[in-house]
Amino acid sequence: MNVYFLSKTPSLSVVSRYSCPLHSLPRVFVWCLKVTVRLLIVAVAMLLAGCATTGTPIPLPQSQAALLFADKCGECHAVPHPARHSADEWPHYVALMERRMAERNVTALSDAERQLIVRYLSEHGR
Ligand code: HEC
Repeated sequence: MNVYFLSKTPSLSVVSRYSCPLHSLPRVFVWCLKVTVRLLIVAVAMLLAGCATTGTPIPLPQSQAALLFADKCGECHAVPHPARHSADEWPHYVALMERRMAERNVTALSDAERQLIVRYLSEHGR
C-alpha cells in the first residue's frame, strides 16, 4: 500500500467550495427546521412504541384484576401488556409507578389494589 499517497490531503479547495444550502438560510429558519425534524422523529417513534403495546389485547380482559389494572394503569399512558415484563420485574415497575402517581397527585393504590395488580401482571408476565 502506498502510504505516502494516502497521507496526502485530498484537494481541500473542492470540499470548501461546496456550501451547504442550509447555511445560507436565516438561522431562525434553520432552527425551526431542525426542531420540526426532531419532533417528527419523536412522533414516529412514539407511534411505533404505541403500536407495540396496544396491538395485543390483555389476558382475561373482563376479570376484576384486569379491569382494575386497565383503570389504574391506563391513566397516564396506554396500558402496558403484562408480557412486557417478567414476574420478577413487575413489582419493581409497579413501585416505580406508585412514585409517578404520587408526583402527579394521582390517587394512590391501596394495598389490596397493588396486590391484585401485581399478581395479575406477574401471572401473565413473560
Ligand atoms: C401518574 C401517571 C402514571 C400512572 C398512573 C402509571 N404510570 Fe406507568 N409510566 C408513567 C411514566 C411517566 C412513565 C415513563 C417512565 C418513567 O418516568 O418512569 C411510565 C412508564 C411505564 C412503563 C414503561 C417501562 C417499559 O416497559 O418501557 C411501564 C411498564 C409502566 N409505566 C407500567 C405501569 C403500571 C403497571 C401502572 C399501574 C400500576 C402504571 N404504569 C401507571 C406514568 C404513570
